[in-house]
Amino acid sequence: MLEYLENTEFSEWARGESLWGWPFALTVHALGTAVVIGFIFIIGLRLLGFFRTIPFTSLTRLFPVVWVAVVFQFLSGFTLWMTKPSKYLSDWAFIIKFSLVCTSLVVTWYYFNAMRRETPEWEAKGVVSPRGYKFVAATVFLWASVLVAGRLTAYLGTLYAQ
Ligand code: HEM
Repeated sequence: MLEYLENTEFSEWARGESLWGWPFALTVHALGTAVVIGFIFIIGLRLLGFFRTIPFTSLTRLFPVVWVAVVFQFLSGFTLWMTKPSKYLSDWAFIIKFSLVCTSLVVTWYYFNAMRRETPEWEAKGVVSPRGYKFVAATVFLWASVLVAGRLTAYLGTLYAQ
């Protein structure tokens, strides 16, 4: 099946038959990375006490933008992956990056739901709960790891080894 996927017209386009496939998918992937990680950091910084004019209760409105960017990450990531699926699936660096993406998504989902429930109370008291700080630490650390692992996939694993 992987061999079939690798030889579709779409994969050939993504591999660079047209010169546009890989650069286009990588550009979308880079923009999506900026949105996901940028927004997670803005939310985290607000909970840590920066940008005090932004109410805690309005932060949950940033999450739908993150979910939309994640959809673009899956579409563009899948396009990049289609260029050599079997190589990616046997590359430890890609497997680590993909596992980090899945873990980060699950933790971010719980973060979002916790914020929906708890921000009115944080707003009223003017303090974030210890659980809120734990979510900030976990999401910032996990998403930063996705970024580094994604960038290093090309250098650490076996994908482009000479
Ligand atoms: C929010 C989630 C994600 C983030 C933040 C992310 C981040 C990154 C980054 C920073 C790179 C390096 C780009 C470069 O070389 O400049 C990358 C590459 C890549 N990503 Fe993602 N990614 C995400 C999700 C995904 C998903 C879901 C897939 C697969 C379906 C995927 C597949 C790939 C592939 C195949 C590459 C190219 C690796 C290479 O050959 O060097 N990514 N990603």
